[in-house]
Amino acid sequence: MLAFEGLVVRGDGRGKELGFPTANVQMEKQVGDLEGSALGVYVARVEIGGDVKKGVANIGKKPTFNRSDTLSLEVHIPGFTGDLYGQKVKVELLKHLREEVAFSSVNELKKQISADVKRATQYKI
Ligand SMILES: Cc1cc2nc3c(=O)[nH]c(=O)nc-3n(C[C@H](O)[C@H](O)[C@H](O)COP(=O)(O)O)c2cc1C
Repeated sequence: MLAFEGLVVRGDGRGKELGFPTANVQMEKQVGDLEGSALGVYVARVEIGGDVKKGVANIGKKPTFNRSDTLSLEVHIPGFTGDLYGQKVKVELLKHLREEVAFSSVNELKKQISADVKRATQYKI
């Protein structure tokens, strides 16, 4: 099992535009081995304050937009519209759905994220 804990910080602000706002999680505390784990998209269990929510997370480098090697963890929580900036969250990556892809258009990325979110609904957290 792979999990991270950290503060929600500002990302590039693109998530809202995509229609899938994400909490960008600073990876401060890590449980488990990243080396042996696949990067990409996961069904996630997200703990915020006392609440537990299902999320769809991406741990990777956002190759559709970035050329850098910086690793980031982002989680979209379907149906959640609140503001999580500055809050501490714990994200457990439960089920690997797919590898990260460098899409040739933003529209393809949107379609794929939408399919990821749909797939995630069938998993219990
Ligand atoms: C479920 C999910 C799947 C994602 N899959 C990819 C992917 O395959 N390729 C990619 O470049 N970015 C992927 N992303 C990252 C998005 O590019 C990123 O969330 C978006 O650019 C917003 O980033 P920002 O909050 O830093 O602005 C994914 C994000 C989520 C939530």
